[in-house]
Amino acid sequence: MRLRHAVGGAAATLGAVAVRDLVQKKHALRRNFPIIGHARYWLERVGPELRQYIVTSNEEERPFSRDQRTWIYASSKEQNNYFGFGTDVDVEHTQGHAYIKQRTFADKLPSDHDANWTLPSAKVLGGPRGRAKAFRPGSVVNVSAMSFGSLSSNAITALNKGAAAAGCLHNTGEGAISPYHRNGAELVVQIGTAYFGCRDEHGQFSLERLKEMIASAPVRAIEIKLSQGAKPGLGGLLPAAKVTPEIAQIRGIPEGKDCASPSRHTAFHDVDSMLDFVEMLAEETGLPVGIKSAVGSMEFWEELARLMEPRQRGVDFITSTAARAAPVRRR
Ligand SMILES: Cc1cc2nc3c(=O)[nH]c(=O)nc-3n(C[C@H](O)[C@H](O)[C@H](O)COP(=O)(O)O)c2cc1C
Repeated sequence: MRLRHAVGGAAATLGAVAVRDLVQKKHALRRNFPIIGHARYWLERVGPELRQYIVTSNEEERPFSRDQRTWIYASSKEQNNYFGFGTDVDVEHTQGHAYIKQRTFADKLPSDHDANWTLPSAKVLGGPRGRAKAFRPGSVVNVSAMSFGSLSSNAITALNKGAAAAGCLHNTGEGAISPYHRNGAELVVQIGTAYFGCRDEHGQFSLERLKEMIASAPVRAIEIKLSQGAKPGLGGLLPAAKVTPEIAQIRGIPEGKDCASPSRHTAFHDVDSMLDFVEMLAEETGLPVGIKSAVGSMEFWEELARLMEPRQRGVDFITSTAARAAPVRRR
């Protein structure tokens, strides 16, 4: 009896839904497929989750794949973060993977006690342009720009000690040389648009301060930061609360006030004047001078190549970074 009531109730509800679907004129799907048309909305709602857990592979999602997220979750809980049974990435057929093939009679691996176990760079930085302090970097793998301020004192100290132990270069990032960069590693000093560590009281570039900063540490090269992939076309703002006495002193900015990193340089304004600036820095310091930029519009690079072609002016190295568009949330 109860069952018959329940079935009757369900049939009445379905009937009412079907009538409503047929009468309404807003959704063609429901009018053409009364009742079952609703399944599509439900599938659309749970689709992302279904794709995430069932369809998408461990390597597919952005900005972090499932494999990367799993590694982060395990590491943050101090659980085992080793993955067994090899990688599920198709390293041989997708770009950007270095892989090692098995060799039956392999050379002996260098031990930690062997002095020269890093792979030195094939290039003499500044050599082709005859810079007074041209040198061959001791390692092809180096630490890329990350400022003190964006990273903590402990992190910079650890990177610097690690770089010293590995014989590689440590790029200061645009936040100038901090005491934590002085733990033995050779440095690449980065100059950003705010000229931290080498600016006058109006925020303009100061060669005198740059020379003082360079003389105070084992600096081997200068990198002019033109742009960074993460914030295309934008400057940055260091809010007053983050301008501690220590940061203010290191960067040469007033304490406790907002500090803007403009979106462009004031020491030069086009490729031609940039090359003059590069040559002036190299002449005054003797160091190799490079640029760092995301590769976006090709015009800049074409003009750089054109103006370097007569070989009178030129950058000594180029650090490139992937350009990223600002993320757009879809849901
Ligand atoms: C915490 C942090 C701070 C950074 N600071 C700078 C910086 O001061 N100057 C710069 O040119 N790039 C900076 N970068 C960008 C890195 O140097 C590098 O170009 C970027 O992380 C891309 O390399 P990756 O794919 O190996 O991470 C920073 C990156 C991070 C994560």
